[in-house]
Amino acid sequence: MTIFDNTNTVKQQYASVGKLENRISLHEKYSMNKFGWFNWLYSNYDIKSGDRILELGCGNGKLWAEHYSDLPECVSLVLSDFSESMIKTAKELIGNESISYQIIDIQDIPYPDNCFDIVIANMMLYHVPDMGKGLREIKRVLKGDGKFHAATLGENGISGFIRKTLGLPKADDMKFTLQNGAECLKPCFSRIEMKLYEDSLEVTDTNDLITYIHTLPWTEEMQNIPDSVIFSMLEEHKNDGVITIPKEYGTFIAYNE
Ligand SMILES: C[S@@+](CC[C@H](N)C(=O)[O-])C[C@H]1O[C@@H](n2cnc3c(N)ncnc32)[C@H](O)[C@@H]1O
Repeated sequence: MTIFDNTNTVKQQYASVGKLENRISLHEKYSMNKFGWFNWLYSNYDIKSGDRILELGCGNGKLWAEHYSDLPECVSLVLSDFSESMIKTAKELIGNESISYQIIDIQDIPYPDNCFDIVIANMMLYHVPDMGKGLREIKRVLKGDGKFHAATLGENGISGFIRKTLGLPKADDMKFTLQNGAECLKPCFSRIEMKLYEDSLEVTDTNDLITYIHTLPWTEEMQNIPDSVIFSMLEEHKNDGVITIPKEYGTFIAYNE
């Protein structure tokens, strides 16, 4: 078990929406790909009229706040998360009465076999202590021709850049990254596709980056480094007033065939 999949740490991290919303706002302010992450994710779903969709670990529901009105007719959508606070915020943000909001732990999905056309679990599988159990649950509730979408990050993105800049060792204990995700999916799914989302951050206000850093689960590792020192270390990467940071994001699409 690591800080990424320790249930207590993860529950604490997502007990309120503040940290997640802060991270999303850094992406919105400084991302170079203007198409937008949630627009790109939605464009991959290929949702058809009458589809039944389950999202696990939906967070604050931003994806659906932006795209609920694009859904075809008669789609049924279940948004779930194991954090009550996330579900409450998603409900406030999207607020559509025809969405079912539920508290669900991915390791124990309270639905019968073969009932969803699409299951989504974005940026969350690396938090699940028994990820194999979670994936078996997803396979069980997916219809025979259903699809599972799992977005995640890579090992050479923002966190890698920040850790290197602050002189911290490479974090090599994260499961379900773009590098190792296909291996995790293989025992449950025979056909797996990976799609990458090209992007980077161009940060002009270093303080925004420091605020972001303090939301990360491994922030305790650098509690002895004062913000003023972090500020100077980051500023060394500034060129013409901009810190360019690689982003490594993408999604797996696994076919239940
Ligand atoms: C990084 S956030 C991602 C939120 C959203 N999917 C997104 O992409 O913006 C991870 C979410 O997964 C949820 N989560 C973590 N472990 C979970 C579990 N075992 N079952 C269900 N949800 C979980 C957290 O509460 C949090 O809302």
